[in-house]
Amino acid sequence: MMCSKGSLMTMVISIILCIMRRLGCKAVADATIEELKNKTELFVKEGNRAPSLAVVLVGHDAASETYVRKKAEAAEALGFLHFQYTFDEDVSEDRILSLIRDLNERDDVDGILVQLPLPGHISESRVIEAISPEKDVDGFSPVNSGRLLAGEDCFVPCTPKGIMKVLEHYGIGTAGKKAVIIGRSNIVGKPMAAILMQRGVDATVTVCHTKTPDLREYTLGADIIIVAAGHPGTIDESYVSEGAAVIDVGVNRIPDASREKGFRLSGDADYSSFRDRDVSITPVPGGIGVMTVAMLMSNTFEAAQRRAR
Ligand code: GUN
Repeated sequence: MMCSKGSLMTMVISIILCIMRRLGCKAVADATIEELKNKTELFVKEGNRAPSLAVVLVGHDAASETYVRKKAEAAEALGFLHFQYTFDEDVSEDRILSLIRDLNERDDVDGILVQLPLPGHISESRVIEAISPEKDVDGFSPVNSGRLLAGEDCFVPCTPKGIMKVLEHYGIGTAGKKAVIIGRSNIVGKPMAAILMQRGVDATVTVCHTKTPDLREYTLGADIIIVAAGHPGTIDESYVSEGAAVIDVGVNRIPDASREKGFRLSGDADYSSFRDRDVSITPVPGGIGVMTVAMLMSNTFEAAQRRAR
């Protein structure tokens, strides 16, 4: 596995000084976007329409609005076509299903994303199942998740795909390693487990969740911990052994009157507790969140390429 010169140097210094290693993800995401920009320019030069992404947002959840805005900004920066459909909280499931059927048929749409969570009266599984697998750039549909489990070619969910890219960038190998995932969501935990146990990736995977009685029993034996529980402070340094890597997927808004926005972002891991430990850890913000957006762009490009063939 390749590791950049800069990150190799940081790793060596951290090991010598026995201090925490920050696995910043912005540079990794920027490099992915730059590469995609070049590929897109070439793709369009070859006579193809620019890749296009349709994003559906229901309701006014502040975090979802932020994510969708970041996805739109990334698509526009890459020269992708971008269609956004925004609905009030009380929109009917039928209206969303009929929009998806319409987007499935449209020739000028390569990728479809419905931002989750949806309001309680709309079935997420019915909506996701309605998305054509060829346009399911989130990789959440049963066809894509089935293909992922079977080790077949598919759209890989963006957050786990981004995590693999970060591990690779920092030279954190997975073969023969013990990986513990905290959280069993369809968005992160389950697809992450499927990827890590694949042939060629070769980690030994444990998935922990809210009903796991003693989390430390699992995490203290782990080489790689992926924490995607959605709760700040799910783990701190007492859960992690020397030399381990922690990938923090949590993005929690903590009320903070001293900030202009009225909140600060915190991951699921207590980042500052790791300061004097020989542990590698992704920060929040500046961590996995930026990778999710970059990987969505990568999947959208892939969808456009497949449809152009
Ligand atoms: N909500 C939180 N993460 C995601 C994601 O990766 N995709 C979608 N569609 N919704 C989300």
